[in-house]
Amino acid sequence: MIAIGCDHGGYELKLEIIKYLEEKGYAYEDFGCYSTASVDYPEYGKKVAHAVADGVCDKGILICGTGIGISITANKVKGIRAALCTDCFCAEATRQHNDANVLCLGGRVVGPGLAVKIVDTFLNTPFSNEARHVKRIAQIEAE
Ligand code: RB5
Repeated sequence: MIAIGCDHGGYELKLEIIKYLEEKGYAYEDFGCYSTASVDYPEYGKKVAHAVADGVCDKGILICGTGIGISITANKVKGIRAALCTDCFCAEATRQHNDANVLCLGGRVVGPGLAVKIVDTFLNTPFSNEARHVKRIAQIEAE
């Protein structure tokens, strides 16, 4: 199950990504927002981050205007490794190296064609499971 959420700055791109998820047959839960009316991104960042951290969803996708505010928010939640990606190289690397569990996108930064390819890369790239990356992720989680 994929958790997806956005603020008003990410709403239009979220619709494009939902279209992709539906075409590919992914199960998803949309945590809002549901229009381009102005809202506060932390509300939606937290909802998606908690759904992933609590194990209700396997991965999350968050979109705000830049992707920055919503990634800062998601990364405050323990167990979340949220990665702001603007290209497929980073989407692949953050799955292989960081085992990122939330993808963040900027609706005012990337166009829908590139965004869908970034999502596809993120969802289809496994974690490498290499010892050095496992160790570094444990270091992130350590108090
Ligand atoms: C909203 O105008 C904008 O600040 C928000 O979408 C995001 O870019 C914040 O980081």
